[in-house]
Amino acid sequence: MLNIALPKGRLGNKVYALLDKLGYSCPELLEDNRKLVFENAASGVRYFLVKPTDVATYVERGAADVGVVGKDILREKDYDLYELMDLKFGKCRMAIAAKNGYVEDPDSVLRVATKYTNTTKRYFSSIDREIEIIELHGSIELAPILDLSDVIVDIVETGSTLRENDLSVIKEIENISARLIANKSSYRFKENEIRQLEEKIGKEI
Ligand code: PRP
Repeated sequence: MLNIALPKGRLGNKVYALLDKLGYSCPELLEDNRKLVFENAASGVRYFLVKPTDVATYVERGAADVGVVGKDILREKDYDLYELMDLKFGKCRMAIAAKNGYVEDPDSVLRVATKYTNTTKRYFSSIDREIEIIELHGSIELAPILDLSDVIVDIVETGSTLRENDLSVIKEIENISARLIANKSSYRFKENEIRQLEEKIGKEI
């Protein structure tokens, strides 16, 4: 049985569609219910539905053998796991954004709202810019609108959240996409199953 941590939401839906196609199906997952564990003995899989930001933790600690996670999450913390494959979807950009027409004052400390505190610190220290981080956990775009921050650092996919809130990208920091990750000891003990998964995905993407 292969234990797979699936991120809830947009990315997880894409991942499940791919795995379903490759024979790792579990139709119950598509039902409208509040279950978090789904098992299909026939295809040898057990899925856990977890918060996207928690996938790497489940995999690192071996609660799941493999998982799919955005590179944005992997760059936030040094997880002890294998990053097996770039899935080439879930593509977005980590970017700095501000209200339309915003002009930066280089003499004052920049107030940056973000949930990506480490990525943000790393970037601004690389350009030697003094900042104050305002850590939030969602709806980051509200911060500059309410003058809680000057700018935000967040992921931009279609750009519609920024557009609909009169914000725009000032600078793109890095490209992001979804990664297949594996627990280190699972990779040893379930080598065949995980390699097979990798191969099937590799042929499909
Ligand atoms: C993410 C991100 C942006 C949005 C970008 O939020 O934080 O708000 O997606 O996507 P877009 O460019 O396609 O509009 P998410 O949907 O994960 O919700 P959150 O506000 O709870 O973080």
